[in-house]
Amino acid sequence: MRKGRFLKKTGLILLIILVILQFIPVDRSVSKVLAGDDFIAMTKPTEKIEELLRANCYDCHSVETKHPWYSNVAPLSWWIAHHVEEGREELNFSNWGKMSSEKQDHKLEECAEEVEEGKMPLKSYTLTHGSLSDDEKEILEDWFESLRE
Ligand code: HEC
Repeated sequence: MRKGRFLKKTGLILLIILVILQFIPVDRSVSKVLAGDDFIAMTKPTEKIEELLRANCYDCHSVETKHPWYSNVAPLSWWIAHHVEEGREELNFSNWGKMSSEKQDHKLEECAEEVEEGKMPLKSYTLTHGSLSDDEKEILEDWFESLRE
């Protein structure tokens, strides 16, 4: 009986902490971008490739992040926001036109590599969004490579 009460109490305390955590705001502000600087807008890929990019890269590497319901629940929301922030820092497809052509070329090389090696999209992301098939990987790799100078 006593054990049951202890568990109930602990559960209640954890629940209260979880509720309080929800009030800590998550910074989801995005920097201003010009629509014309967007990677997809500039490179005009096929519909299939656009879909692949939006579904597998744009949530972390653009300002057009789509937030699933669980990304609003702390502490998960902090962890996801951190990934998105870090992802945008490394590569922001929304700001593609702002990069020098050398930098674009370098990023394209990295994109092809990361997809080939299965490092991108991140594992934690593919768990909830599904992973790229081998065919899809190849389509993306070829697209990134074809844009290189
Ligand atoms: C869940 C968020 C997320 C998704 C989805 C995602 N990335 Fe990333 N990406 C990151 C983070 C975080 C980093 C920086 C840390 C790292 O390299 O692991 C990164 C780094 C990169 C880098 C730089 C690697 C380096 O070493 O310089 C490239 C290139 C990249 N991602 C390409 C892509 C491509 C292409 C896709 C889609 C096929 C994609 N990413 C999907 C979060 C993501």
